[in-house]
Amino acid sequence: MSPLAEHGVPFTAEHIMLREAVRDFAQREIVPIAAHHDETGEFPLATVRKMGELGLMGIEVPERYGGAGMDTLAYVLAMIEIAKADAAHSTVMSVNGSLVNFALLRFGTEEQKQKYLVPVASGEKIGAYSLTEPQSGSDAAGMRTRAVLDDAGTHYLISGRKSWVTSGPVAETMLIFALTDPERGHRGITAFIVEADQPGLERGKTEPKLGIRASATCELLFDGYACPVENVLGEPGMGFKIAMAALDAGRIGIAAQAVGIAEAAYEASLAYAREREAFGQKIGQFQMIQQKIADMKTRLEAARLLTFNAALAKMRSAETGRRYTLEASMAKLFASETAMFATHQAVQIHGGMGYSKELPLERYFRDAKITEIYEGTSEIQRMVIARTELGLR
Ligand code: CAA
Repeated sequence: MSPLAEHGVPFTAEHIMLREAVRDFAQREIVPIAAHHDETGEFPLATVRKMGELGLMGIEVPERYGGAGMDTLAYVLAMIEIAKADAAHSTVMSVNGSLVNFALLRFGTEEQKQKYLVPVASGEKIGAYSLTEPQSGSDAAGMRTRAVLDDAGTHYLISGRKSWVTSGPVAETMLIFALTDPERGHRGITAFIVEADQPGLERGKTEPKLGIRASATCELLFDGYACPVENVLGEPGMGFKIAMAALDAGRIGIAAQAVGIAEAAYEASLAYAREREAFGQKIGQFQMIQQKIADMKTRLEAARLLTFNAALAKMRSAETGRRYTLEASMAKLFASETAMFATHQAVQIHGGMGYSKELPLERYFRDAKITEIYEGTSEIQRMVIARTELGLR
């Protein structure tokens, strides 16, 4: 085992250096602006650009495609640090890294990688992943957006409405999923690389959200958008599997995000329990506070281990080809519920101050909720885990 192992995970010197560098950046540059962006909902473009310069928008992408050439453990460590400073920044990083980069790297042609992956992985352009529609969230295969090959056979004409697109208002490169053969159900879905700001695509209403308010989210309205056939990602009909494979990777990112939020809430609570006095003693001396601290710490540790476990499973999968769906779903399920639990307890430990916007606890609480919803709700994760264990898929 490496001398740098932590939690039984074989970290390298590069992992630890990256974590320190990202922690320093996040605490110095993101923490001071997080409350303002949460309040205004203004997209933090300047810090997202800096994250790109630091290589954080393409950690797992090989250097020849504009990335940092590191592994999934590195990605997870960096995500935790960014999320600890501000969940909204980590949402942008996660969609860019584990959904868009992942799918382009795994399923893209060399030309597609050069044209689309390089700018997104280097942080020059922002990526979005668009699967959900107003009537189909959990039931992703129930989409209605259609893509019809034109008479010349050179373009797919895409029409339909996509919703809840993270980074939709700012993204230049988008992965979208549409039905090319509705008769075939999920096997009739195709993935497309779409360039924003072209005729036939408009960005629709932006979502006024409870949390991660600085991450921009909107609808996409397609009306005869002409997508060249060379922008099909993978083969026609492969779209659902591409979407699911990307979500396996994405769910590890969300697990790491949840760990970061929980860690921020836990550390603030520990400090407060040590310093705040009531009834003539530090509140940390009361057993009811101790119980909260013990439960937060234990769940946080378990969430972290499940997240590292999923990252390691993804890294092994590059050699074995074995899916890591189960590990990713377990990590996402447990870490997101831990983030919700820890932020709830943190607000309670802080009492009135936890409810006040003077401290970031109420923001952590609002931000944590989305981790139980996006990239598959907790109910969907439980379904995936149980179906896998029961051999039903
Ligand atoms: N990897 C590869 N293939 C997979 C797969 C995976 N993880 N999961 C399923 N498949 C394949 C199956 O093997 C099956 O293949 P065949 O065609 O050979 O039979 C096919 O996909 C269909 O699988 P299911 O029968 O299991 O499909 P289903 O319709 O029952 O749905 C589901 C499965 C797990 C419920 C899926 O729909 C799902 O994950 N839903 C949640 C969607 C989701 O997470 N949405 C979030 C969108 S992104 C977002 O949140 C916004 C953002 O910007 C961050």
